[in-house]
Amino acid sequence: MKQIGRNITGLLSCIGFVNGKTSVQFGVMTRLPKVVLIFMFLPLTGASDGQTTEKVLGTLGGTVTLPCVGSAENQTLFSTSWFKEGKIVASRNQSSYITMAEDKRFSISDRQHLTITGLNETDQGLYYCNTSRQYFTVLEDIQLLIVSGPVEVVMDIGPTTALTNDTFFVNSGSNVTIRCSSNSFPSQNLSLIFEDVKTLTSSPDSSLEFHLHNIQPTNQGLYHCVARNLVSNVTVTNKTQLFVYRAPDGHPKCYSKTGNDSTELLLDCSWPGGYPAPMLHWTEVLGDQTTNKPVLNVSKNTDTLEEVLNRTLLYDGQTLICYNYYQPLDLKTDPCSITLRSPYPEGDPLVTAVEGDNITLSCEEAKSVPEAKTTWRRTLKEDVILPSSRHIISKAGPMLRLTIVNVTQQDEGAYFCRSENPIQDIELEIILTVKSSARNTGGIIGAFLAFLIFGAGIVIGLSAYRHRDRICLGKTFHLNVCSS
Ligand SMILES: *[C@@H]1O[C@H](CO)[C@@H](O)[C@H](O)[C@H]1NC(C)=O
Ligand SMILES: *[C@@H]1O[C@H](CO)[C@@H](O)[C@H](O)[C@H]1NC(C)=O
Ligand SMILES: *[C@@H]1O[C@H](CO)[C@@H](O)[C@H](O)[C@H]1NC(C)=O
Ligand SMILES: *[C@@H]1O[C@H](CO)[C@@H](O)[C@H](O)[C@H]1NC(C)=O
Ligand SMILES: *[C@@H]1O[C@H](CO)[C@@H](O)[C@H](O)[C@H]1NC(C)=O
Ligand SMILES: *[C@@H]1O[C@H](CO)[C@@H](O)[C@H](O)[C@H]1NC(C)=O
Ligand SMILES: *[C@@H]1O[C@H](CO)[C@@H](O)[C@H](O)[C@H]1NC(C)=O
Ligand SMILES: *[C@@H]1O[C@H](CO)[C@@H](O)[C@H](O)[C@H]1NC(C)=O
Repeated sequence: MKQIGRNITGLLSCIGFVNGKTSVQFGVMTRLPKVVLIFMFLPLTGASDGQTTEKVLGTLGGTVTLPCVGSAENQTLFSTSWFKEGKIVASRNQSSYITMAEDKRFSISDRQHLTITGLNETDQGLYYCNTSRQYFTVLEDIQLLIVSGPVEVVMDIGPTTALTNDTFFVNSGSNVTIRCSSNSFPSQNLSLIFEDVKTLTSSPDSSLEFHLHNIQPTNQGLYHCVARNLVSNVTVTNKTQLFVYRAPDGHPKCYSKTGNDSTELLLDCSWPGGYPAPMLHWTEVLGDQTTNKPVLNVSKNTDTLEEVLNRTLLYDGQTLICYNYYQPLDLKTDPCSITLRSPYPEGDPLVTAVEGDNITLSCEEAKSVPEAKTTWRRTLKEDVILPSSRHIISKAGPMLRLTIVNVTQQDEGAYFCRSENPIQDIELEIILTVKSSARNTGGIIGAFLAFLIFGAGIVIGLSAYRHRDRICLGKTFHLNVCSS
C-alpha cells in the first residue's frame, strides 16, 4: 500500500508539472482515478464492484441495530431475511412476532431492522436484508464493525514516590520508565505526550514504554497517555503529574548591607537551585545563659529570605545566622552567619602641610560589617566634601583618601572621616596644620631675618660703645663694669 501510495503521489506531481501540455500525459491522467479507487477504497468497502457500503459500529458486548435500507415501511404479510456473508442468520414472517434465528441474540423488528445483542468479535462482517416483496433492486451491504475501548488506559511512572494518586515525584538525576497501556479493539494508537505538545513516543501496540535517563527539572510536568481507537476514533487520556525534585546548590550564602534607610540593616540569605523551595530560617545567636528573645526569628519556604532590622535592635558583635533545610531529601547543610561590626575608621590624626603643596589625608575603614559608607567632612555639621578641582577623593579597598590640591591657610583645621553603618556612625578627626611658607621663601626670609638681627646687633654695639658713660651713669648696677 505504502509503495503504491507513493507511486500515485509521484504521478500526481508529474501531472501537476506537465498538466495539459501533451496528449501523452493526459493518458496518464485519465487512468489515475481508477488506480486511486481500487487501492484507496478497496480496504474500506471490502468489495470492488462499486456498491456503496454503509458502516455501522457496534461496541463489544453492546447492542446494535442494522436498518433494512430501502425496504418500504407499513408493509405486512411478507417475510424478511437477514444474511451475513451470504448465509442467513435470521428471518421473520412480518405478520408474526417471531424471529427465526439459530442465535438468540438476533431479532428482526416490525420495521425489518436487525438487532444484535451481546456483540462479540465474530459478529463483524457484511450484512444485507431481503424481503419477499422487493420494491427495490439494489441490495445494500451493511458493514458491521465491532469496536471496543480504549479501556483500562493505565499510566505508570517508576520508580517514583506518590504524592497523590496521580501526582508523583522523583529526584533529579534518577532514571525513570514511563509505561502506558490500553485495550482497544480492533486497533489503537497509543501515544505518550508531554505537556500537551511534545509526543515522546507512540505505538500501535497495547502498551509502550519510554525511558527518561538522568531526569532533570525540565522533565517536570504533565504526562498524558493517549489511547485512540483507530476505528471509532474514541480517545481516552490518562494524565500523571511528575515533579522532579532537586536539592539547592552548595551551601546557603548570607550577606548584609545597609537598607534604604541608613539605620536599617538588610539581611539576605539565599540558597538557590532547589525545587521545591528549601526552608530558610534567620535568627540571632544568643549566649547559653541569656533569657533574651532573639531579635529575629523568621522561617519561610523560599530560595531567598530577606529581612530588615532597625538600628535599635543591633549591636557590635551580634551574630545573625541563617539555617537551612531541604525537606524532600531531609537535607541540611552548614548554616551561614554574619557577625555585625561597628565602623572603625583609622588613620593619622595629625597632618602637617606646607602652603602650596598637595596633601593627602588617609582613612582606613576595614572593620565595619556590613560595609560602611565612609565620607569626608569639614566639620561634623557640614556637608560631605564633594570631589572638585581642589579636593580629589579616591577609594582603594578599605582605604579612603582626600587629596587637597595647593593647600592654603584656609584649609587648616579639622577634617572628619565619617563611617556610617546600620549599627552606628563613627568619626575619625584629623587635624591639618598648614605651614605658611615654602622652602625658598623661608630661606630668603631667614637670611633677611639673620641679616636684620646681625645688623641690629652691630648698630646696638656701636651705639653702646659711643654712649658707654651715659649707659654707666644711667644704670647703677653697671657701674662695676664701667669702672673696670
Ligand atoms: C404507515 O401507515 C400509517 C397508517 O396507514 C400511516 O399513517 C403512516 O404515514 C404510514 N407510514 C409511512 C412511512 O408510510
Ligand atoms: C406469514 O404468515 C401468515 C399467517 O401467519 C401466512 O398466511 C403467510 O403465508 C406467511 N407468509 C410467508 C411468506 O411465509
Ligand atoms: C430474496 O428473497 C426472495 C424471496 O424470498 C428470493 O427469491 C431471492 O432469491 C432473495 N434474494 C437474495 C439475494 O437472497
Ligand atoms: C476517524 O478519524 C478519521 C480521520 O481522523 C476519519 O477519516 C474517520 O472517518 C473517523 N472515523 C469515525 C468513525 O469517526
Ligand atoms: C527600598 O526602596 C525600594 C524602592 O524605593 C522599595 O521597592 C523596597 O521595597 C525598599 N526596601 C525596603 C527593605 O524597604
Ligand atoms: C522561633 O519561632 C518558632 C516558630 O515560628 C518558635 O517555635 C521558636 O520557639 C522561636 N524561637 C525562639 C528562640 O523564640
Ligand atoms: C524601626 O524604628 C522606627 C523608629 O525608629 C519604628 O517606628 C519602627 O517600628 C521600627 N521597626 C522595627 C521593625 O522595629
Ligand atoms: C595656588 O594658589 C595660589 C593662591 O590661591 C595661586 O596663586 C597659585 O597659582 C596656585 N598654584 C597652583 C599651582 O595652582
